Amino acid sequence: MQIFIDSADAKELKTLAETGLVDGVTTNPSLVAKAGGDFFDTLHQICTAVPGPVSAEVVAQDYETMLAEGRKLRGVAANIVVKVPLTQEGLRACKTLEAEGHPCNVTLCFSSTQALLAAKANATFISPFLGRLDDNGQDGMGLIREIRAIYDNYDFQTQILAASIRGVGHVRDAAIAGADCATIPPAVFKALYKHILTDAGLEAFLKDWKATGQSIL
Ligand code: E4P
Repeated sequence: MQIFIDSADAKELKTLAETGLVDGVTTNPSLVAKAGGDFFDTLHQICTAVPGPVSAEVVAQDYETMLAEGRKLRGVAANIVVKVPLTQEGLRACKTLEAEGHPCNVTLCFSSTQALLAAKANATFISPFLGRLDDNGQDGMGLIREIRAIYDNYDFQTQILAASIRGVGHVRDAAIAGADCATIPPAVFKALYKHILTDAGLEAFLKDWKATGQSIL
């Protein structure tokens, strides 16, 4: 499963990219507002720090302006993916942009039938929002399983990008359910490394090694 980071904080993304484990980035208008700074400068910095797909979202609601925004965003860097909302106009823009060679990430997906339409619009990515479904008493992970089954039934190539991830359990379950990618907040990414037995085991190994009085270098 590819790991994307859900953030628009260019400085933090640069540091996380140094782990060598970050395959891409997703931003959205709320994350851009939270990070502050000039949108295009920020995108340029992120695209330089992370060579994989970097999603940047249009804010227009009509087809023509979405196309203009999407084409402009794609001009920032070759690894930009245009994020469009799962609306009638958004999917129409997706189909056109994809035909022009601009990859799209269809965002705000909350049902498998929406995901079916996104695949038919040739989206490169579909972003089902797990956490927000769970917050509303619905089964976020069930949605990933449904989309996986539908896409496999018809051999759709659209990649499932599990989004709105709230914790390590979401990452594990999305991987088990067959999501192609997950976009993960920085704090959750850091938590993926952690296990109490790893910490305890390392402490014991280092204590025992010290008692030998030897060194490797
Ligand atoms: C995905 O692309 C979105 O940016 C993101 O995952 C939304 O997550 P949230 O529900 O935590 O805002």
